[in-house]
Amino acid sequence: MIDPPAVQTTISHHLLLCATPTKEKCCDPTTGIATWNELKRVIRELGLEKTNRPEGIVLRSKVDCLRICERGPVLVVWPDGIWYTDVTADKVEPIVQQHIVQQKPIRQWIYKMTPFRTMSSADE
Ligand code: FES
Repeated sequence: MIDPPAVQTTISHHLLLCATPTKEKCCDPTTGIATWNELKRVIRELGLEKTNRPEGIVLRSKVDCLRICERGPVLVVWPDGIWYTDVTADKVEPIVQQHIVQQKPIRQWIYKMTPFRTMSSADE
């Protein structure tokens, strides 16, 4: 029987990147794939996918559209609900280092903020 590691592991962040949209609305696919490849490299090199990371693992997903559809590549960081636009490959390492590792989002690159409701506010 195979253990499902994601179920047994704490998740610190989930990064969703619109990088290669099929309708090419927010960015050129060449730009997008460069950003996606850099995101994979940086997360791997910083050890953020290790299941024994005390803060939890960092998941990454390439998505088709995040419904911004301009100024791509678009990156949303959950659970913080912070959206970055114009995320070219050169911005990936600063975002991961400062936002994910140091817990200091890069304010000047934020497009919008949409935090989740907390359980207590959802019950109200
Ligand atoms: S196509 Fe990228 S956000 Fe919609």
